[in-house]
Amino acid sequence: MTSRERFLAACACENLERPPLWVMRQAGRYLPEYRDLKAKSSFLEMVKTPALAAEVTLQPLRRFPGLDAAILFSDILVIPEALGQAYAFRDTGGIAMAYRIETHAQIEALAPAASVCARLGYVADTLRLLKKNLGGTKALLGFGGSPWTLATYMVEGGSSDDFERIKVLFYTDRPAFDALLEKLTGALIAYFHLQIEAGADAIQIFDSWGGIIAGPDYEAASLQWIRRIVAALPRDFPVILYAKGTASHLTDQAFSGVKAISVDWTCDLAVVRRTLPANVAVQGNLDPVLMTTTPEIVRLQASRLLESMRGTTGHIFNLGHGITPQAKIECMSALVETVTTWK
Ligand code: CP3
Repeated sequence: MTSRERFLAACACENLERPPLWVMRQAGRYLPEYRDLKAKSSFLEMVKTPALAAEVTLQPLRRFPGLDAAILFSDILVIPEALGQAYAFRDTGGIAMAYRIETHAQIEALAPAASVCARLGYVADTLRLLKKNLGGTKALLGFGGSPWTLATYMVEGGSSDDFERIKVLFYTDRPAFDALLEKLTGALIAYFHLQIEAGADAIQIFDSWGGIIAGPDYEAASLQWIRRIVAALPRDFPVILYAKGTASHLTDQAFSGVKAISVDWTCDLAVVRRTLPANVAVQGNLDPVLMTTTPEIVRLQASRLLESMRGTTGHIFNLGHGITPQAKIECMSALVETVTTWK
């Protein structure tokens, strides 16, 4: 069985000897070969140059051939950028958008949703290069932010500590909030179609800031828009939803139409597996901090998670969030070895 087949079988909750494994890098400056490339080109240059983006995507697979899936090297913020709101990285860490969305007029001035694809041709080119390179052996994952998570960056003007502006907009001016989320939802539908046509085997939606919404508002502020996106994609296409810090919404998420729910490290995954419908896969959820400890501790904790999931179907092994810059290569090696040799 190829890695790609293993990954798709897990999404379909088929019975497998061991779960497929992949890891999201995000702030993953842990690979020296990534840091070498980054010394020569900026992050955005790498993202927008298909040969470089494909190379960076493949780096973790070259170093850890046991990984079952590759995730496109890009960023969730390419969507605001394609809508007309550029982004950059602050010297002190975090994201700085070119400006803040504060008025109806600014929302109306964003580019039409369908036009984003014309500005994101580089993503399609990167995926096509990757598809060719992987030759169907590994699963190829596309991704995007959830409408809510993207809106937080657009309205806060970048990374935020308190998320006050986006919440005040939601509470005080629902028509403007809805107009912005409607725009983002349309753009993401077009963008995911582009990724699927270019060869993505699955799409992960990152609702990274879903956990800061007041509980009873999660549906109105985030989940309803995700549901609309999933409904607009090809029937049965594997969509994975990752929403950090949303434990009390996992059941609602599982009924949103997605094929898999990615769970952060704060949940007991075996409990989640028992709670969610059997036809929805679960992904996760080792604490990423373990990757900064020792190979022995990683082996122990990864085995503990695998053991807790023994006899279940529909598990994709993953970290509970992205790998951190401090992650140790030897810890990743221990993780890959533990999962791929599991019996
Ligand atoms: O494994 C991979 O290479 C996947 C590619 C990927 C990146 N970002 C590349 C990246 C993915 C899937 C993302 C998603 C993303 N981007 C999310 C959702 C995931 C999550 O963390 O919950 C979010 C919120 C973003 C926005 C973003 N981009 C942040 C918050 C940061 C970190 C900024 C900082 O100060 O550390 C980025 C930068 C980023 N995106 C890096 C990478 C490899 C690090 C860039 C670098 O310094 O080299």
